[in-house]
Amino acid sequence: MPLAALAAAIAAQPRVRLAALPTPLHDATRLRDALGGPTVCPRILIKRDDLTALGLGGNKARKLEFLVADALAQGATTLVTTGATQSNHARMTAAAACMAGLRSVLVLTTPSADPAPEGNLLLDRLFGATVHYVQATDAMLAVGDDEAVVARVVDAERAAGRQAYVIPVGGSSGIGTLGYVAGTLELVERLAAMDVRPSRLYYASGSRGTQAGLALGARLTGAPYALYGVAVSAGEPEKVERARRIANDAAERLGVPDRLTREDLFTDQGFIGEGYGIPTEAALEAIALLARTEAILLDPTYTAKAFAALVGHVRAGTLDPSDTVVFLHTGGAPALFTDRFVRAFGPRLAT
Ligand SMILES: Cc1ncc(COP(=O)(O)O)c(C=O)c1O
Repeated sequence: MPLAALAAAIAAQPRVRLAALPTPLHDATRLRDALGGPTVCPRILIKRDDLTALGLGGNKARKLEFLVADALAQGATTLVTTGATQSNHARMTAAAACMAGLRSVLVLTTPSADPAPEGNLLLDRLFGATVHYVQATDAMLAVGDDEAVVARVVDAERAAGRQAYVIPVGGSSGIGTLGYVAGTLELVERLAAMDVRPSRLYYASGSRGTQAGLALGARLTGAPYALYGVAVSAGEPEKVERARRIANDAAERLGVPDRLTREDLFTDQGFIGEGYGIPTEAALEAIALLARTEAILLDPTYTAKAFAALVGHVRAGTLDPSDTVVFLHTGGAPALFTDRFVRAFGPRLAT
């Protein structure tokens, strides 16, 4: 559809400004040189959604602009959401609540009885969130029985004369998906202005709101690139179905006839490693590489695994060096300031 028509359809959606947009698009020339230079490595543009500013930034700011608007429209007083202890989404929800004058309650799944107040969890506390912990039933997936706790929180808020607005894990709902439809429009317009047609866009894929928005956005804008999602956790069949459902919910909200199928929602499962939040060797190397060439910080749970895919493809010679590729940096750096990361990265700190 014409970009102006899509812009109008997005502008008609309730939205509060929480993010610093547009985010920069960085031409990573030193990285390209480090990967062998223009004869072997494509041009790499990094879309800096780690710099959305909200509560130290990240992809969730785009989703939260639409989710918080819906919460306010419903008269909510309290944002409630779920995630792992180092959830970037939870941290940014707590930050968004501060900006919108709302309370926040986070229900976080943890493998330990008393998680250290570090990284995202420290920031949750700084933003004044009330935090409830749920014991993880599967550490690899960071899942636990959080639904019952969320239900109790909603009841307690009501009993206290307040109204909870529950944001699904990762902000991944039809409304949240609008964030990356809008984000795609921002990127596609910038690429057109630069007269660049990248062949691929790499990104990390978790709860799938980003994927749903990117895939719907790419369809609606006729984006030049193919999406290359890199999964960071298992559970693909259920997640593909969620992405399809929420993308089509977003399409309905925008009033467009387009619909996605499961075939539109590919992710590479080859970079997960041992499980969610467990850094791989390739991810640790990717963190060092990008920090030392471009002074850009990846995170060990999401973006480093996606970046490792891009680096692996360059080294394997599967990308045409005359192409341009985009890496969508979705944030996550607070997880660097955790004991788990320091222990994993430790030997490299000495070099
Ligand atoms: C830094 C970072 N990158 C990527 C993602 C994945 O986004 P989504 O959950 O929309 O798939 C997340 C989600 O928490 C994230 O925190």
